[in-house]
Amino acid sequence: MRRRSFIQSVATSFVSSSSLPRRGNGAPSVSTARGDVLLVFFSRAGENYFNGGRKDLTVGNTEVVAGMIRDALRCDVFQIKAVDPYPHSYDATVQRNVLEQNDKARPRIANLPASLGAYRTILIGSPIWNVSAPRIMLTFAERYDFTGKTINPFTTYAMSGLGSVVDDYSAACRGAKLGEALAIRGEEAEGSRSEIDKWLRRIGLVHDRRPVPPREPSSR
Ligand SMILES: Cc1cc2nc3c(=O)[nH]c(=O)nc-3n(C[C@H](O)[C@H](O)[C@H](O)COP(=O)(O)O)c2cc1C
Repeated sequence: MRRRSFIQSVATSFVSSSSLPRRGNGAPSVSTARGDVLLVFFSRAGENYFNGGRKDLTVGNTEVVAGMIRDALRCDVFQIKAVDPYPHSYDATVQRNVLEQNDKARPRIANLPASLGAYRTILIGSPIWNVSAPRIMLTFAERYDFTGKTINPFTTYAMSGLGSVVDDYSAACRGAKLGEALAIRGEEAEGSRSEIDKWLRRIGLVHDRRPVPPREPSSR
């Protein structure tokens, strides 16, 4: 199945969710847009591991999950883009990642925001690369002071679940409080809306709309 690219890359700053194209049929369960939440993610489209073989992904798995979170929260989104984009080839990306891990690299991010402003909750998503967060996530994580902010990591993966991501962000995100993380199998990203919704409820970002009680008829 061909996936539509439904999250625009953010060239210079955060983008309000209202300006992004919407996708899917799941109505958001929140009553108001979450202006205090920032969704940050990195995802690589192209040839990838898929159920033991390879598949060309028009939209990366993490971007699929990020789109569902964005749909549910109507929050601002920042998509991490590498200054030096990762290759289309899976094997070439694996090789580059090994080099970056060995070098303890901090790959440069295009148009990194100057500050994270007043966001109180930051959802940070990425694939798992060699059981860790891709090194470019550390470039982001080390850039800011997260005091007073809660980070909820999420990953897509083939076999490793969260890998070392929680430890990676605990070490890299100065001052952050780490909240519950979510791991979605990449091959199941398209069908993960309900799992994502449950996670967003557990971490307190999605609530059911309270029914408005009918008004008492006036006795006068
Ligand atoms: C360079 C590279 C390394 C990977 N290493 C792992 C790994 O160690 N464990 C794992 O479960 N999946 C691994 N994968 C699979 C990805 O985590 C998985 O396919 C993910 O859903 C891809 O997300 P994306 O399409 O958003 O980039 C790796 C993929 C790549 C490209």
